[in-house]
Amino acid sequence: MAKRSALITVMARAADKAARRLRRDFGEVENLQVSKKGPADFVSTADLRAEKILREELSRARPDYGFLMEESGATAASDGCERRWIVDPLDGTSNFLHGLPHFCISIGLEDKGELVAGVIYDPLRDETFAAEKGIGAYLNDRRIRVSSRGRLNEALIGTGTPFKGHGDAATFLAEANAIMGATAGIRRWGAAALDLAYVAAGRLDGYWERDLSPWDTAAGIVIVREAGGFVTQIDGRQIRGHSPDILAANGALHEDLVRLLRNTKGP
Ligand code: IPD
Ligand code: CA
Ligand code: CA
Repeated sequence: MAKRSALITVMARAADKAARRLRRDFGEVENLQVSKKGPADFVSTADLRAEKILREELSRARPDYGFLMEESGATAASDGCERRWIVDPLDGTSNFLHGLPHFCISIGLEDKGELVAGVIYDPLRDETFAAEKGIGAYLNDRRIRVSSRGRLNEALIGTGTPFKGHGDAATFLAEANAIMGATAGIRRWGAAALDLAYVAAGRLDGYWERDLSPWDTAAGIVIVREAGGFVTQIDGRQIRGHSPDILAANGALHEDLVRLLRNTKGP
């Protein structure tokens, strides 16, 4: 059992407080599911409420840091401070909206443009995935490592699919076709941050997705790397700043997945 650093404690506490609200709101969504109006408006308020709590808690603990938040955008750091939080207050909104119990809060920390810490919290399973650069990755304070599976045909791979006109369906289908043919299966869970956390914890052996935003990936990138995994763009190139497309995997499979995905062509 590892002792949490001061920084991870601040991030986990903020996530915990916002999660209490999300848990209550999720209960309400389950009730609204059967109402005529449905839960859509309610969910966008739940998102905003969680973001507000995260902003208040993180600002109180680290008043100089800036923010990049999904709902409220960018806020500059104080003069002389080059750190900012990158926050998704509710990742997995569609799941939340449909009463599917799989969503999370994601908090990344960037220092001079480099990702240095991440916390991803799953409020329903009470799972805190956390990592700080150079210190390792943890699930509820126990060290985690990426899986050691080295054969593609035994690997389970997470992804995200284009939806509501976002993204390029032809490219996705070609990629999914290649991955389906070579691996033990594909999972589409619907929360990108948790997909990355699951690669870090060895539950998934790899994960690829396109058209992501910084708040979907910031925390997860640090957590996967600190768990010994590789994270790059889908074509294998290094990520500089933010990349909307991402490929994360254990070290044994990463190159094979780059090769597989590189050789796919849309129709
Ligand atoms: C979405 C989820 C989903 C991914 C989408 C994201 P949201 O985030 O992470 O898994 O496929 O691209 O936009 O909207 O639920 O915060
Ligand atoms: Ca998201
Ligand atoms: Ca979100």
